[in-house]
Amino acid sequence: MKKRILLGVISGLIAGGGLAGCTEQDGDNSNDNQVIAEPPQPSADVSAHWPQLRSGIAKDPAVESHIDTLLSQMSIEEKVGQMVQVEIRTATPDDVKKYHIGSILNGGGAFPNNDKHASVADWVALADAYYQAAMDTSDGGIAIPVIWGTDAVHGHNNVIGATLFPHNIALGAAHNPELMRKIGAATAAEVSATGIDWVFAPTLAVVRDDRWGRTYESYSEDPELVRAYAGKMVQGMQGAPGSEDLLKGKHVVGTAKHFLADGGTLNGIDRGDAIVSEEELVRLHAQGYFTAIESGVQTVMASFSSWNGEKMHGHKYLLTDVLKNRLGFDGFIVGDWAGHQFVNGCSSVSCPQSINAGLDMFMAPDPSWKELYKNTLAEAKSGVISAERLDDAVRRILRVKIRSGLFDAGAPSTRPYAADESLIGAPEHRAVARQAVRESLVMLKNNGNLLPLARDQRVLVAGDGADNIGKQAGGWSITWQGTGNQNSDFPGATSVYGGIAEVVEAAGGSVELSVDGSFDQKPDVAIVVFGEDPYAEMQGDVSNLDYKGDADLALMQRLRAQGIPVVSLFITGRALWVNPEINASDAFVTIWQPGTEGGGVADVIFRNADGEVNHDFKGSLTFSWPNDAQPTPRNRGQNDALAQFPFGYGLNYTSSVQVAALSQHSGLQLNSGDETLAVFNGRALDPWSFQVTDAGNNHSVISSSVADLQGIRVQSVDRKVQEDSRRLQWSGEGNAMAGFFANRRTDLSSYLGKQGALVFDVKVDGAPSDAVSLGINCGMDCGAEQSITGLLQDAIPGEWKTVAVDLQCLANAGAKMDMVLSPFYVRTAGALDMTIHDIHIASQTDADIHCG
Ligand code: BGC
Ligand code: BGC
Repeated sequence: MKKRILLGVISGLIAGGGLAGCTEQDGDNSNDNQVIAEPPQPSADVSAHWPQLRSGIAKDPAVESHIDTLLSQMSIEEKVGQMVQVEIRTATPDDVKKYHIGSILNGGGAFPNNDKHASVADWVALADAYYQAAMDTSDGGIAIPVIWGTDAVHGHNNVIGATLFPHNIALGAAHNPELMRKIGAATAAEVSATGIDWVFAPTLAVVRDDRWGRTYESYSEDPELVRAYAGKMVQGMQGAPGSEDLLKGKHVVGTAKHFLADGGTLNGIDRGDAIVSEEELVRLHAQGYFTAIESGVQTVMASFSSWNGEKMHGHKYLLTDVLKNRLGFDGFIVGDWAGHQFVNGCSSVSCPQSINAGLDMFMAPDPSWKELYKNTLAEAKSGVISAERLDDAVRRILRVKIRSGLFDAGAPSTRPYAADESLIGAPEHRAVARQAVRESLVMLKNNGNLLPLARDQRVLVAGDGADNIGKQAGGWSITWQGTGNQNSDFPGATSVYGGIAEVVEAAGGSVELSVDGSFDQKPDVAIVVFGEDPYAEMQGDVSNLDYKGDADLALMQRLRAQGIPVVSLFITGRALWVNPEINASDAFVTIWQPGTEGGGVADVIFRNADGEVNHDFKGSLTFSWPNDAQPTPRNRGQNDALAQFPFGYGLNYTSSVQVAALSQHSGLQLNSGDETLAVFNGRALDPWSFQVTDAGNNHSVISSSVADLQGIRVQSVDRKVQEDSRRLQWSGEGNAMAGFFANRRTDLSSYLGKQGALVFDVKVDGAPSDAVSLGINCGMDCGAEQSITGLLQDAIPGEWKTVAVDLQCLANAGAKMDMVLSPFYVRTAGALDMTIHDIHIASQTDADIHCG
């Protein structure tokens, strides 16, 4: 946990900073990419860019006066408690009572009693326990029901047996807004069955760089479709504004997330920085929020990311001036997973800056949430958070609770649909999911009209995705990353193979399942189901668009060489370069991450029992498909010429397109690992800039020759020539860090296996008083550190020495060397005075610091 938080803080620095250091790329140090020189600034005049909107749910004077009454009775402790959301793993019902907590959540992979196989009754019992605790006024105070939020992002995905819909990228391909309403409603019904009130969906990201590990949570790279879907999804979940059952019955509260431009971060870096103009922010990234608000969405989640270097969790202009005032959003803004800690000057346990910027509820899953509560209370008492701001935040939270009927609903177990197990994975929900699967498939190639297949054949089903529901479900499926699941964790689900077997066997054909493609009897046709393994946020980022499917390709080629026609079904969360695999297939269909209803695939690729087309393809790409693996963004209207298959492409049974052999040049130019790569030689080399996070968690890009920061002073000093070195002086006031960071990735993997080392010169003038770590960072929760305490303690004061650290050690410890954002940083909480000079990466180097 501790290590994770530190890496998180380090990543906060990368994501938020780095602007001032950006220049046009001139070296060959990195993979590519987009870099811009000057960050655009927000306009002074909101109305110049943003439409004036109104929430689809009008303010009700009766609700407002109910809130007035509550506010007049609540103590300041109760008010602050409403503004803190805690997690079921770190807060008990007793805590909820004692701290007057307003909300709970279960994070991805968090279950009642820590039991992955928790029953519906277990979920409801836990909801009851928190509810009763919140309503218990035996110690005085007033009863305010707690609101429980969950990530039902493609169905109620934390719950065993739930219907899992295809991920958003697939839903986008279906181009069917009305279907979103049905999916929203079915999801809400399953959530209601577990006694939960609130869903953290839909995600309205417009993803502009598919290297981002959350690309599959996005409907499209294009705002038009996101706009068309957002409102429908919200209405499906919450009920339509004006309707009888708005926020009642089987409806739950929805969330528009992650506000704003989570899909626009430079180089697709998770929690990174969207460096775009305000015009682009509105045109590309905000469109979904407009229809969500007009459809009455009750909560908005702030994004981890930044806009032009400023963290969304602390962005007053966007949270308050734009979202609340101009766009008329009158529900509440919730933070994202301790995301407030990355705001300048904040920590996970104190961040009045966020509340003052407009955040209404902290998401505080860390065990340290009690301290956050206490500090926020103190800040409210001292006026750091004004009484008006406090009341406004609480008013918004109460408004949502009253509107959604929580005050009258009674204990979760007494609500009409709670504990109704028949809703979980209900046949009618599965039917909607199966329809979504059918409509989302995108056929990229169908040479010789191989599809649709006749049923009464001998069919071989191969590939590691064929009978693997975890793989076809993707991230956010039972577990957070979607990993570690078995087919038995998805009762009632159908694998792609299962669906094929059903139709073929019923028609008198035969099916053989063989992951490696070996067979007893030669099949008439082979279906290869392959693709990306599950991943979610942070861990899903990649450095280029290469699918890297050598084993799958070999399997296809082996089958082809035996004269067997090959149909390839590609499981993926993003548009990846698969030209070699397409060339090795007669027909190629992208099936995305279809979820639990894999039978929808066979519905389309097989004829019906009479030999007719059963269901034709309806899907078309809402993400431009790349023509090589280079990390260059390609979107509708941006680098269109670099699309192998453009936005909108998708074949069906009436098209007679023959796809000729595609280029097999990936376009990737890998660093040989033989050249020395300079990081700092008196100045920071592109793409890096010199950055510091001080003891107060303030991030800065240092371009001046001296900077006196909290707990750390950095200065340019002379060794051989003027200002060719940096002196770093820590006072011991708290954890502070200095190093070289970029917001694009550098691939150092070629140095591994070539005795690669991180080499630098160092001079110690004041020995360390506490542990010192040297680190490499590759993104949020990605990186490794190596202790250099002993080395610095042993150094002869005032004398320069060269130190080489074996890169393999850092790789073994978890640094992904193909994704490096910071190749060098130093961190300590103690006092230390050291000077650094000439930092570079070299091969064939004898290391001073070895593994272990
Ligand atoms: C939680 C997720 C959360 C993630 C964020 C995980 O431990 O289970 O729900 O999104 O952490 O860091
Ligand atoms: C994710 C959110 C999610 C939250 C709660 C975060 O890490 O970014 O999308 O809703 O965790 O699990």
